[in-house]
Amino acid sequence: MNERAPFPLYPHRHLLGIKDLSPSDIELLLDRADDAVAISRQSEKKTSTLRGRTQINLFYEASTRTQSSFELAGKRLGADVMNMSVASSSVKKGETLIDTAMTLNAMRPDILVIRHASAGAAALLAQKVGCSVVNAGDGAHEHPTQALLDALTIRRAKGKIARLTVAICGDIGHSRVARSNILLLNALGARVRVVAPSTLLPAGISAMGVEVFNTMKEGLHGADVVMMLRLQRERMQGAFVPSVREYFRYYGLDAEKLKAARDDALVMHPGPMNRGVEIASEIADGPQSVIQEQVEMGVAVRMAVMEALLDPRRNPEGVAG
Ligand code: CP
Repeated sequence: MNERAPFPLYPHRHLLGIKDLSPSDIELLLDRADDAVAISRQSEKKTSTLRGRTQINLFYEASTRTQSSFELAGKRLGADVMNMSVASSSVKKGETLIDTAMTLNAMRPDILVIRHASAGAAALLAQKVGCSVVNAGDGAHEHPTQALLDALTIRRAKGKIARLTVAICGDIGHSRVARSNILLLNALGARVRVVAPSTLLPAGISAMGVEVFNTMKEGLHGADVVMMLRLQRERMQGAFVPSVREYFRYYGLDAEKLKAARDDALVMHPGPMNRGVEIASEIADGPQSVIQEQVEMGVAVRMAVMEALLDPRRNPEGVAG
């Protein structure tokens, strides 16, 4: 078992969104996550930080990366991890989110990780249960651990985040990843651009402190980081792009469009990717892509977040909540 040096005490009990975090909160989580990367790269990956603690993953929406990395993160920290199978639960019999959460809460978990299609679902749960709550994505609102893992990937590759130019491209309007990244990157002093057709930009996006571009050539000019987003059809009502072919032609990242960015620009994508829609395969698998590193950083960030929220110095008796 790995034993680890203590980090400064993290001041929050829940992680509901990046909007609640100060720059020093974010840096603390990134520092802790850096430490967790080293643990995950050892052959002995288990620590005892959360031994005896119970983690429940409650995913109402599909997930590959987030759910599996929260599960691995909990196991690497020594927690007992339960993945609640929503598809075969009493949700199918009409049980509400709150009733399901209150039922699970009565089993005395220490941490509940929730993904839900409704914005605000994680915050609502945090008011009802006695344990820590982590937002693993709520509608088009926030996906805070995604933004943290993206920041960790950038910081490790570039050595800093402040003053980097980051272009977030694609379906900004329906994206919780874009929202959390804009909040985090601005908090750490990056220059943030959004690049999309106007149909995929939310009203008032400039008020979030970003520069807005409607062409990839202009938006990617001199960028240090190019972050591509999927068209989130599950949150679209109506047609937001004329056709996938047209969309790829004007907004899909290919070798020609990437030339506008810096030669050493990082190419990122939170996944799941739609190859040939928002990104060409040659770029997704190319030398500038850090998409697999993002996945690796996902485990480390989720370890860091859960350790920080369940820090025994805040709750020495180890009682849930
Ligand atoms: N990036 C992300 O949230 O991926 P999943 O939907 O697979 O969890």
